Amino acid sequence: MEKRYTFIERVVDGVIEVVKESGKKDFIVGYRFSPREETDPGFNLEETLWLVDKLADKELDYLHISLTRYDRATNIAKYADKSMLQYVYEKINGRLPLVSVGDIHTREDVEWVLQYSDIAAIGTGVLIDPKWFHKILANRDSEIRTKLNLQDKDLLMISPGTYAFMEMKTSHLLVK
Ligand SMILES: Cc1cc2nc3c(=O)[nH]c(=O)nc-3n(C[C@H](O)[C@H](O)[C@H](O)COP(=O)(O)O)c2cc1C
Repeated sequence: MEKRYTFIERVVDGVIEVVKESGKKDFIVGYRFSPREETDPGFNLEETLWLVDKLADKELDYLHISLTRYDRATNIAKYADKSMLQYVYEKINGRLPLVSVGDIHTREDVEWVLQYSDIAAIGTGVLIDPKWFHKILANRDSEIRTKLNLQDKDLLMISPGTYAFMEMKTSHLLVK
């Protein structure tokens, strides 16, 4: 892990140094990571926790975890009690703000995520309904568009590349 971390640390330290040298005060730098256990070697939860522990002591502004689904658990028996997000949040232990993303679509999803993160990020949900945040803030949850039909795809000017990506990753949210 130390060896794998060398590249990451050099990039992080290098970026932080350049930002400091630039003198820009409001230029934020974060690190986004994604525990991926589909491949071996990959980047499993145990390795993620090791990395997060190191990064949380860096002069970063935030850490960002990308999950396929926010409450996903690991396959590693040792960490079977909680979601990956919970383990990561506990490892950071308030040293840096944590942003989470991954299949967050409803108020309940957000509330769950905010127990173990400082910020919840919404990707596909906002592509499908650009007024997602307005509707949540105005307590108009029932008006949130949750599926994307072909007419709305055109109205929202979803590009062919983005649509192809959505077909690959979130086809259950598309109505054809
Ligand atoms: C059209 C599209 C493009 C994306 N491009 C990137 C990307 O370039 N780099 C990246 O790390 N994640 C990318 N993502 C992944 C998102 O950042 C996010 O992790 C993922 O969509 C899960 O969040 P969601 O369920 O709220 O959409 C992309 C997602 C979508 C839908």
